[in-house]
Amino acid sequence: MSIIICPNCKSLLHQFEKTVRCENGHSFDYSKKGYINLLLANQKKTINPGDNKIMLNARDAFLSKGHYDFLIDSIEAIINSFDLFSTLNKGMIHLLDLGCGTGYYTRSIFKQKEIKKVGIDISKIGISKASIQDKEATYLIGSAFNLPIETHSIDLLLNIFAPIHLDELQRVLKSGGYFIKVIPSGDHMKEVAELVYEKFIPHQSSIKEDLESKSKIQIIKVENLKRTILLSGQDLQNFISMTPYLYKFKQEQIELLKELSVTISFEIIIGKNE
Ligand SMILES: C[S@@+](CC[C@H](N)C(=O)[O-])C[C@H]1O[C@@H](n2cnc3c(N)ncnc32)[C@H](O)[C@@H]1O
Ligand SMILES: [Zn+2]
Repeated sequence: MSIIICPNCKSLLHQFEKTVRCENGHSFDYSKKGYINLLLANQKKTINPGDNKIMLNARDAFLSKGHYDFLIDSIEAIINSFDLFSTLNKGMIHLLDLGCGTGYYTRSIFKQKEIKKVGIDISKIGISKASIQDKEATYLIGSAFNLPIETHSIDLLLNIFAPIHLDELQRVLKSGGYFIKVIPSGDHMKEVAELVYEKFIPHQSSIKEDLESKSKIQIIKVENLKRTILLSGQDLQNFISMTPYLYKFKQEQIELLKELSVTISFEIIIGKNE
């Protein structure tokens, strides 16, 4: 069953060979790399919205070295502890990775389980990289603010270091569906920030308050992960280059950095739709 909808008229899109089409005749082609571009021109504020090539290449290289795999282990353990797979409605489980970037988490999470995975990102380069590396999932260029996804069709929505729109989140989640959001917290990357800012301001987010006051999603668990990792050489350069901190550094400043011990601090917020 298709859960992908037309960004123009919101009807379901059906596949006809290398095209998807809605009942109102709007059609979108699969790209050569296998993704579908469902981002309408009026949803773009810039020609190439989202993370750029430098950041995405650095992110891909950094993640593929396994530096954040402990996050994947934690997310899988959390989901298993809730017995998601036995309590969810029978039939195929639909996972949406919103703001999936290069798709590292989409393709790494629950590799061995029967899940229909969809990754959405506003960055064409990110989605292109994701679809080259993973033929199992469906990758769509789209916006968090106008998700090309059928109402109440998603069992599990992952949102890792990426924006979310609460109305759209609630619309696409099934009743009883889960939401997992990962945000940087506290002293995350403090040592990098201190190289370019006089004073480090710890990370703060209003997402928990927003979920509680503006949505019907109940927060059922919050987990904090913190560790220090020693990075050097290309790993350190990638770590800085995959974030907007990159633009605070002069290139030669990054190249001169030999090694740095950095704080990694994440908050994992787990919610369940009413
Ligand atoms: C910090 S990256 C995280 C990517 C991925 N989740 C990961 O951890 O590797 C944030 C991602 O959000 C995407 N993004 C930004 N605004 C978006 C929007 N309005 N809709 C969808 N994706 C968006 C960016 O293009 C980028 O890939
Ligand atoms: Zn349509």
